[in-house]
Amino acid sequence: MPSILVKTSIPGPKSKALAERQGKAVPRGVSQLTPIFVSRSEGAVIEDVDGNHFLDLGGGIGCLNAGHRAPEVVRAIHEQVERYLHTCFMVTPYDSYVRLAEKLNDLVPGRFPKKTMFLSSGAEAIENAIKIARAYTRRPAVICFEDAFHGRTFMAMSLTSKTHPYKAGFGPLAGDIYRIPFGYCYRCSYDQVHPECKFHCARSLEDTFERVVAAESVAAIIVEPILGEGGFVVPPPEFLPMLQDICRKYGILLIADEVQTGFARTGKMFACEHFGIEPDLVVTAKSMSGGLPLAGVTGRAEIMDHTGPGSLGGTFGGNPVACEAALATIDVIERENLCERAGILGDHFVRRARAWQKRFPIIGEVRGLGGMQAMELVRDPETRTPAAEETRQIVKRCYEHGVILVTAGTFNNVIRMLMPLVITNDQFDEALGVIEGALEIVGPGDQNLVSGRPAPVHV
Ligand SMILES: Cc1ncc(COP(=O)(O)O)c(C=O)c1O
Repeated sequence: MPSILVKTSIPGPKSKALAERQGKAVPRGVSQLTPIFVSRSEGAVIEDVDGNHFLDLGGGIGCLNAGHRAPEVVRAIHEQVERYLHTCFMVTPYDSYVRLAEKLNDLVPGRFPKKTMFLSSGAEAIENAIKIARAYTRRPAVICFEDAFHGRTFMAMSLTSKTHPYKAGFGPLAGDIYRIPFGYCYRCSYDQVHPECKFHCARSLEDTFERVVAAESVAAIIVEPILGEGGFVVPPPEFLPMLQDICRKYGILLIADEVQTGFARTGKMFACEHFGIEPDLVVTAKSMSGGLPLAGVTGRAEIMDHTGPGSLGGTFGGNPVACEAALATIDVIERENLCERAGILGDHFVRRARAWQKRFPIIGEVRGLGGMQAMELVRDPETRTPAAEETRQIVKRCYEHGVILVTAGTFNNVIRMLMPLVITNDQFDEALGVIEGALEIVGPGDQNLVSGRPAPVHV
């Protein structure tokens, strides 16, 4: 498929007609950033119903590290479709579930025996990880982080940080959840500067145990190794090991949410590997299965085995087509060295984005790990006031010129790179050229449009 091809105004007439029908048939709450209806996709390219072609730097929000319709994945799906579609693993089991569990038990960090169960969505897997942690520890409380995102179901939503649009109006939320700051140095909640802060955010956990919730009441600390929806925030290298040490000291389980960071995105199969931590439970989803709905919880065997028969599962969890797709996807990731590719793409992005940063003061920070890279956009590099409206305009201009982007950040001012890792160098450069064009057009904008609380002033 050719890369960018813009034949109509964007959205084109057929997309517009479908959007109108969507408006009448689908609730407003299910909304899109890019009003383009897809007709087919391949590699890193999406073709819309009007025949326009887009380079996809969003990957269905990080689900397509191995690319759209990787041939091996499509083949595995076809083969499975010819055999059976669903029996329910809790009624009549099948081997692909077991083979995939074995594969994850091997891949997920942790030098101890592990077991894995499957669900249908990231949020559902988060729910199960918390259930398992509470049952095993016989403790109720869970600690989570500012700027975290864990999904839209009740426990996952309660663990999520951002109020609008995720939590506001949906209460009461799940109880016994306590939130502490993440190692987000660009917007430090304690207004300190790294490394002089001496990791105040991680150390303050001990203070939380005195002032907020007793350590012996805490079942788990759940953390994204790198914030996803929160803005691709990479904590200082010491942050996660410090959390792990505190967890071990108090018998608290460490749960890593690798839903967005997993499966080669950061340059390793799992982001935890960069930090040398071995979480007790790891939650996976998104890019595991090449675009089919599948999620997993992998953890220490003794923890995973604690609850009795029938206590875990779900009708569609570990669907056989999704399991075969996942086995094929992981094969592609390994065979095509997509971890290495993520690093190459990430380095290339950083080089270009740092050059842009010198020209465009709107780029407050370029950050990330491997192929998980982002730019945080600000009205002013000193005040760090979030440039949410400008971010929206850049994304709009990009999709009008053939590049699909997704935003992130509590203040909606981060542009994140979630391109399929099979994108070619030429395609990636072409897409970055479109972003550069948008940066040239969209200036700092009208100061009155500022949304979100102002950032603390840093020196
Ligand atoms: C880190 C993280 N956890 C959990 C979820 C929820 O996954 P799902 O949308 O599949 O429920 C997401 C989704 O974006 C995510 O990024």
